[in-house]
This record gives sequence, C-alpha cells and structure tokens, in this order.
Amino acid sequence: MDLFEYQARDMFEAHGVPVLAGEVITDPGDAAAAAERIGANSGGVVVVKAQVKTGGRGKAGGVKLAKSAEEAATAAEQILGMDIKGHTVNTVMIAQGASIAEEYYFSVLLDRANRSVLAMCSKEGGMEIEQLAVERPEALARVAVNPLTGIDAAKAREIVDAAGFTSDQDALADVIVKLWGVYQGEDATLVEVNPLVKTTDGQIIALDGKITLDENAEFRHEHHAALEDKDSTDPLEAKAKEMGLNYVKLDGQVGIIGNGAGLVMSTLDVVAYAGEQHGGVKPANFLDIGGGANAQVMANGLDVILGDEQVKAVFVNVFGGITACDEVANGIKGALEILGDSATKPLVVRLDGNNVEKGRAILDELNHPLVTQVDTMDGAADKAAELANA
Ligand SMILES: Nc1ncnc2c1ncn2[C@@H]1O[C@H](COP(=O)(O)OP(=O)(O)OP(=O)(O)O)[C@@H](O)[C@H]1O
Ligand SMILES: [Mg+2]
Repeated sequence: MDLFEYQARDMFEAHGVPVLAGEVITDPGDAAAAAERIGANSGGVVVVKAQVKTGGRGKAGGVKLAKSAEEAATAAEQILGMDIKGHTVNTVMIAQGASIAEEYYFSVLLDRANRSVLAMCSKEGGMEIEQLAVERPEALARVAVNPLTGIDAAKAREIVDAAGFTSDQDALADVIVKLWGVYQGEDATLVEVNPLVKTTDGQIIALDGKITLDENAEFRHEHHAALEDKDSTDPLEAKAKEMGLNYVKLDGQVGIIGNGAGLVMSTLDVVAYAGEQHGGVKPANFLDIGGGANAQVMANGLDVILGDEQVKAVFVNVFGGITACDEVANGIKGALEILGDSATKPLVVRLDGNNVEKGRAILDELNHPLVTQVDTMDGAADKAAELANA
C-alpha cells in the first residue's frame, strides 16, 4: 500500500525524523485558517501541496508557494480538483515553508533482484531522480543493506560517505538511521525522501516522503488499516478483500477464476492470446481462490466477478491437487445454487488433475445452461474468449 505524502510525514514524525508542520484540508475554504496556523512560525511562507499517489506533482503545478493566507487559499482552490497523471486531487497539505540551502535524496527499498535491501543517496535531490540515475549514475550512491543488521550509525555513515558528502555527515547519518527505523518498524518496502533538505540554518529535514507498506505484514500493524484510501479503492477489489479473496481488477471481458497464483497468471496469458482471435477480448481480472475451494469460496469469487459490468464470460480453470476436482465441481454446483438468478453469464469450466473424471461427471449431470466444460486449458480459453466476444 502506498501512502500519501501527509501520511508519510506523520509516520516520519512518529519515528523522530525531522519534518515540518503540515495540515491537511479538503475544502479550499479551510486553507486560509490552516495557513495562518502553520505560517505563523515560518515568517508567513507556506507551501500548498497536492496529495496524490503519483510523482512529479511540482512539475504539474501541484506544489505552490504562498506568502500569505490569501495566497494559500487561492493556491488551494487551484490545486484541489486538479488532475495529475490521472489522479484527482481531493486533498492538499498546507506545509510550513522551509528556507532551503540544498536538496538531497535518500531512499531505502526492498531490492527483489538481489534478495536484499538497497539504500540510495545523492547530494543532488529535488529533481527527478530517475533521470539522474540514467544520465549520471555516479551521482547516485547505491549501498546494499543487510536486512538482518539494517542501518546503524556506522552503516548510515557509509551511505553518506558513498554519496560524497563532505560536511554534515553525522547529522545526515542520524536522519538516515531514523528513516531505517521507519522502514523496519513499519514493515515498509520503500521509504523515499526527495528532497531531504538542508535549511539555511543548517537543519536536515525531510520535505517530501513516499512510503510503501508491505500489506503482508498488516497483521502486525493495527494502525495501518486506517491509512487505506477507501475512496479510491476499486469497489470490486474492496468487496473481494472483505471476502478474503486474492483479486485484482483488470480491464478485459473474460472473468478468470483459478486455483494457485501460477495457474491463474498463465490463464491470463492464454486468455489474452486466445482473445486475439476473438475481437481482442482480454482477461477481466486475476482471481486465485487457492486450495480448498469450497462452494462458498467459489460463490464469493463468482459473485465478485459477475459484479464486474465489463465481464461477458467467465473461465474457471482448476487443476485438482490437494483439493480434488469433484470437490471443486461440487463447489461450482453449490455456488450456482447460492447465486441463483444473479448468475447470468456463461461459465467455461476446465477441470484437470486429481479426480478429474468424477468432477466432470458432476458437472455433466448438473447440465446447467450456463456451464460449458472444455477439457484443455487452451481450448477452454478459446471458448471463453469466443463467448465473451459473442
Ligand atoms: N515545505 C516546503 N518548503 C519549501 N519548499 C518546498 C516545500 N515542499 C516542497 N518544496 C519544494 O518543492 C519541490 C517539489 O516538492 P515535492 O518534492 O514535495 O514534490 P515533487 O517532487 O514535485 O513531487 P513528487 O515527489 O511527487 O515527484 C521540492 O523539491 C522543494 O524545492
Ligand atoms: Mg519530491
């Protein structure tokens, strides 16, 4: 889960990372009062910042300096409702203005390719770091971090030195250790600060923050659930999550249900491939119902998929393993009974593996008007694509 900047700011503060005052508003009418409260301790300067989960807000006009409460109100009015790379701005943060001497960059992230953690640091922050990494990679230090030992004072100093800092090393190292505290303590997979600034009076402050939290660790962090942005979560994904289903909404017309993430991913591929012969139809979702798919789980999965208006046909692709095909077939049968009239779209079912004969016999006997059985995965993908294009 990605956090908004203001949520990252609060999390930084909770871990002792130096940040500036900030208040979040959604109504431009509240901007002036917020700016007055915040600006009082920075000589009247505040920064009005769009809160959207995408980069390049400044360049898009979503970060504006305001020298008075009226200017802040005007800026908030301009920024609220703005579209930044497809994200509508519903919230702005009125932040205390910093007097910036230098802008740096720091991030720590899960490095999947190297099965490790990676820290990146640069004396040249503020601009687009991706561009810096490509054009002048030597200006961006990359230091591998052992996840078991993390970033202590010595490691932080190594990172600071690798980035070529020749002053403020201890102050920077201190902030970096605290940022590691955020990464580890909150089970993040990314903590990025761009810019990490040095102010004209010599303080090191995190002026912008991006945090990605590892949802697999949610059970360890009760307070993380409240950080979820319910307004912009896809309603089908929200429903699936409530039912404990592993569902990702995609953009196509063929609903997909399978057991096992690997099988479901290959199912997406074969459906996309088959769809090329049938008007370019595509998979509508990823849904892994896992092992032990009983009738209720199958019904829940079908319920979510049938709720997707774009879906024209559903492909149920199951390889019986520990859960045998006859159990899955009974699950489908039970699901159709549970759903009754709300099941309205054709289902193509491919069963294979453990107890396949029994499973197919159950569906043959059911002889449901919506269900078509096809024995092979490619054949079933083709049939589902054809029905979705009909
Ligand atoms: N509180 C602040 N006081 C002074 N200047 C600020 C403040 N916040 C941001 N700025 C300036 O605005 C620039 C852009 O701000 P910020 O990094 O928050 O957004 P961004 O980088 O454009 O967005 P993103 O990080 O989403 O790409 C900063 O590099 C900094 O120069
Ligand atoms: Mg930034």
